[in-house]
Amino acid sequence: MSSLNNLTDKLKSAQTPFYYYDLQLLQATLEACRTAAQPYGFHVHYALKANFNARVLQLIRDAGFGADCVSGNEVSKAIEVGFDPSKVVFAGVGKADKEINEALDFDIFCFNVESVQELEVINSLAAAKGKRARVALRINPNVDAHTHHNITTGLAENKFGINQWELADCAEVLTKAGNLWLEGIHFHVGSQITDMNVFKSLCVKVNEIKTWFEERGFNLNVLNVGGGLGVDYYHPDENAIPDFAAYFAIFDRYLDRRAGQEVHFELGRALVAQCGTLISKVLYVKKGIKKNFLVLDAGMTELMRPALYQAYHKIERLEGEAGSQVLKYDVVGPICESTDCFGKEVELADSERGDIIAIRTAGAYGEVMASRYNLREAIRSVYSD
Ligand code: LLP
Repeated sequence: MSSLNNLTDKLKSAQTPFYYYDLQLLQATLEACRTAAQPYGFHVHYALKANFNARVLQLIRDAGFGADCVSGNEVSKAIEVGFDPSKVVFAGVGKADKEINEALDFDIFCFNVESVQELEVINSLAAAKGKRARVALRINPNVDAHTHHNITTGLAENKFGINQWELADCAEVLTKAGNLWLEGIHFHVGSQITDMNVFKSLCVKVNEIKTWFEERGFNLNVLNVGGGLGVDYYHPDENAIPDFAAYFAIFDRYLDRRAGQEVHFELGRALVAQCGTLISKVLYVKKGIKKNFLVLDAGMTELMRPALYQAYHKIERLEGEAGSQVLKYDVVGPICESTDCFGKEVELADSERGDIIAIRTAGAYGEVMASRYNLREAIRSVYSD
């Protein structure tokens, strides 16, 4: 954040709020991930849903990553930005026919299929085009991600993926379907996972399900283990780059794979979270008896995670003429909702109108989840270069 601290005076006269992207940090993160995956020959697809800002995408494409998409528009965006269609995968529980047709036209690498019925639909749409669609079955492994309830995806109660008791039905459809080609199996158990044991449990499940298919004569080229690696929201400077080496080592150790079988990952947050900061200005200070409020010009419309998941983001007051004493503030936005609060009882140097506030680790699921609620302005972005 030192680069931003040096700019405090400039920022005071700048139009806020905006997302600030540290592109050097993004590049260093991508390089760390690439270097850690390389010895094992692991393939990483970047999950566009975390951030589809054009500058961010260009750097990720240039670093050689593939793209993991969850809508037709994400698929076209990835291809428009220059990701190779042979490195694009398309997941999601509700792919519309139009989206499937477009992806078939782009000849993307693979559809991650989430239900038996979707298999049948893709088969018939591919047949109409005289094509064979490559598919991977997204299987719900019923593994607890030990993360926030709202970002858990791999439990039987979640809508995602094919249940294990439906595998025989899938095998039957695949055997009969003339326009499908089974590439592999796919899993994603949740996001912001910091307990590495979750990934070990996932590996055990993947091995079990892979054996089930191989025993029935299906040759799986790809084991896709999804994303989910968490980041350190509490210490964004000390842990700016996630420990990719430790993460990949778990899959190398616990996943059984035969020679030539590819392992694919779909990382979103771990690649982009730390490079983004939401920059905002203090509009008003309300000093009370029980509470002090800092009212910012950014709110849940710019960064929804605290309101939606009670997510923690480190809040900093950028250097300037800080007051001498540290006070506790509830840091809130201007939106007409009580949940529009970035943090309660946040300790900050005595602040005043016009001070610049940085909300850290906002590069993932920040800008992409912004909304125009209250008819707010669309959020802008500024880059370190
Ligand atoms: N693959 C699939 C199939 C996914 O559903 C997701 C995220 C990813 C990969 C990437 O996961 P990551 O590596 O970023 O954890 N809006 C929430 C997070 C939702 C995650 C949705 N799926 C948040 O702000 O925490």
